[in-house]
Parts: sequence; C-alpha cells; structure tokens
Amino acid sequence: MNIAVIGTGHVGLVSCVALARMGHEVVGFDVDQEKVSLLQRGVTPFHEPDLDSALHGELDGGRLRFTASASDALARASVVFICVGTPMGEDGEADLHAMEQAASQIARDANDGVIVVEKSTVPAGTAERVRTAISLEAPNLDFDVASNPEFLREGHALHDALFPDRIVVGVSSEVAASILRRVYEPITSNGALLIETDVRTAELAKHASNAFLAMKISYANALARLSERLGADVRDVIEVLGADPRIGPAFLGAGLGYGGYCLPKDVLGLERLSARVGYDFGLLREVDRVNREAMEATVEKIEDALWNLQGKRICILGLAFKAGTDDARLSPAVELARRLRDLGASVVAYDPMASANAQHEVPELDIAPDPYVAAIGAHCVVIATEWAEFRHLDLKALREAVATPILVDARNVLREDQGWAAGFAYYSMGRRPLQRHPGASDLFVLPEPAPLDAVADAAG
Ligand code: UDX
Repeated sequence: MNIAVIGTGHVGLVSCVALARMGHEVVGFDVDQEKVSLLQRGVTPFHEPDLDSALHGELDGGRLRFTASASDALARASVVFICVGTPMGEDGEADLHAMEQAASQIARDANDGVIVVEKSTVPAGTAERVRTAISLEAPNLDFDVASNPEFLREGHALHDALFPDRIVVGVSSEVAASILRRVYEPITSNGALLIETDVRTAELAKHASNAFLAMKISYANALARLSERLGADVRDVIEVLGADPRIGPAFLGAGLGYGGYCLPKDVLGLERLSARVGYDFGLLREVDRVNREAMEATVEKIEDALWNLQGKRICILGLAFKAGTDDARLSPAVELARRLRDLGASVVAYDPMASANAQHEVPELDIAPDPYVAAIGAHCVVIATEWAEFRHLDLKALREAVATPILVDARNVLREDQGWAAGFAYYSMGRRPLQRHPGASDLFVLPEPAPLDAVADAAG
C-alpha cells in the first residue's frame, strides 16, 4: 500500500521503517528540512537500537523515502499516519498545534478515499477535531479518520513496532477497519494481536496504558518512602508483590521517579481531560505528586549525607531519562542536576549516550568522559539512571577518585554490600542508609529502626 507518515520524530521515523519493512511503499514527511536531509542520507537523528541499519535497508530497497514537501508525500497515499509531537502545554493539557497543521496539510493535498490515522498520543476526542478541521478546509474530500496509538518504548522501539504486544485500531467504518487490517496483515499473519475498537476508546486506551505504568512506579516509590520509615527493604517488598502473577514485577522499580517524553505528559493529560469532561481523576494527581516526592526524597538524602550543599562537588552518573536511550527530555537525572546546582553544589556528570542532549537542557553542566573522571574530587556520587554498566562499576577505583566516600544509588542498581565493601557510605531508595558507625574505622551498621511502639501507635 502507499503510505505517508507526517512527522519523523521517534514514533514517526520508527513507523516509517517498520511499515516499509512490512512491505509497504512509504514516504516520510517532515517540515524540518534539515532532518529530512539527514534521513535521505540514512542518518537517524537519535539513538535507537537497530534503526540505522533497518533505515539503510529500506532506503536501499526503494520502499522508503523522505520529503519536506507535504504535497509530494500525500500525492499517492491511500493511508496517512499522523505522528507529530503533542508536547505538554503550560496547563498540563497536550499542545495539539502540530495535529491541526497536519490536518490542514491533508485537507490541501490528500486524495479522495484517504484514511487518516492518528498515531500520536492525543486526548480522546482529537480524531473528531481532526475530522472537523479537514472537512472545513476541504468540504469535498472523501476521507475517514482512525486511531492507531503506538505503544513503543524508547530503546526497543523498532522491536516493539514489528513485534507488538497488541495493535490497537480505533475505527468508525468498515472501510477504515479493512484498510488497517491490510496495513498490519504482514505482522498479524505472524500472530500479532489486533484489537479493534471505536475511535475514542482507542485514544483513551493509549493514555490509560501509560498512566497505569506511571501509577505502578508511583506505588513502588510510595512504598519506598514507607520502607525507609519502617526499616523495611522496598526491593524485597517489591519482589514479594511481583511474584504474584496478578501484579507482576514490571514497572515497580523505586528510584528517582518516571520521566521522559510520554509518562509525565500522559498522566497529566489524562487528568486534565477527565476534569474537562466532569470526572475528578484524583488518583492521577496523586501519581504525579508521589513522582515529584521521589525527586524530593533523593535531594533530601543527598543533603542529609552532605549536610550543606553549598560548595560541594557532586558526581552524577546517568543523565538519560532511562537506560538505553540518548533522550534527556524531562529526565529525572537532569532535573536532579539542575536542583543540586540551584542549591549551590557544582555538578559533574557522565552518561554513556545522553550527555550532548542533557547539556542542551542544562548548558552549564560539566560533562566527564567516564565515571572515574567524573568522580575526581567529588563529595558525593549519585547514580541517577539505571544503565546496566553502572552495575559493574569498579567501586574501588571510584572510591579512590572521590574526596569523600558517599554513594547515593537513586535507581537501586547496586547491592548494598557492594557499596560498603568498597568503603562508601551507601544510600539507596527504600532502605535505611548504611552509615559508618561512630568510632569504628571500617564497620558499617544500620541506624536503629523506628521503635516498635511507634509502629504500634501508628497502627492504632
Ligand atoms: C513509555 C511507555 O512504556 C510506552 O509504551 C509508550 O508508548 C511511550 O511511553 P518510554 O517513554 O520509552 O515508554 O519509557 P518507559 O520505559 O515507560 O520508562 C519511563 C520512565 O519510567 C523512565 O524514566 C524510567 O526510568 C522510569 N521507570 C520505569 C521507573 O522509574 N521504574 C520502573 O520500574 C520502570
């Protein structure tokens, strides 16, 4: 089939490559001429495993091309995927200007019979706005609008697009349904699950999935706060929870909280949408509050360990919003760096991939080429992104580089015995810190847990 993709960001570019891989003729369109030139030369503007080689393969195979001209992209398309950005606006609601612009491009240049498919994450009801916008500008155009939300995770995006857990197709006509079934036939014939719904249900299901993942993370972070107060170990609590197949272990990692381009925006976007239609989804406000609390708790831990931050040097390991990506947008690690700087500390950071993007967010950030250089003279080392390589840090070398041996593991990537065996006072999330016992040179003991009668009093 002839397919146009409007917007070549993370979702758009991965969709272009995946749809071409499925055998379709695909044209990717973007208003950013510079980005289009890069893509035409086979250069991906962001890191995503296997995407480079797959992009080359599809360009060479002739099934995929890119253009900065909307009329060129839409000239032969029978299906148009809208994959433009829908960033969080000032008020927490999604900013849908790019959606409106895409609708206008379609109204001007699309052919009769075109199926317009919204892939960007949008508030339920947006497809109707797109439909109205196109009809007003092109009253004679014969078209339909469908929703086909994307669930891909950064760092696994191409895999998720080609081997999805589920394909959700929200349609209001049998014609649109049968065309989208044909689009995905190459992967549904291999067993991929396709769920058909009405358009609003598909839109809501996407928001609801991301908000649920965020809720799981906030649940774990709330348990971390409670475990710290009770003298329990949140990792073990989570292990017990996760072993129940009704709960499952995924997305229960306590730490610095969730970040990135999707989860924070989708939690608030769904809360705002609910309020607009008269439902008070207070649970989502709480999810967001607990997420912000995770950041506060980390800053407090660092302050607690260092006493005064003014004039202290802090080494941050990890800047990406999660492991496996160079994306630093709304990264908790970057936010932490910003907060520590505002409190008077100097920050030196290391990240295997995201340093350049993080520096774009915080231009004053000092970047080091490896963890051991970043740690030189530091009064505290903070692990802020869950990169696998941090599990294998040479902690003895790190200990030799720092000025004072304090390690705050804000993503719980290490085991506590690793930290203290290397001579660090080790702070993690959801456990009481291991501290040097006064008077002992190499002995680390846990501070006293909360007295049991206090626990009993609290229980009433
Ligand atoms: C998310 C959804 O997972 C994906 O389905 C959707 O299409 C886009 O949004 P992504 O933004 O790539 O994907 O990141 P994700 O893997 O969901 O992680 C989001 C944040 O949560 C990261 O900051 C990560 O560090 C954090 N996280 C994740 C935790 O703090 N704890 C966990 O247990 C898991």
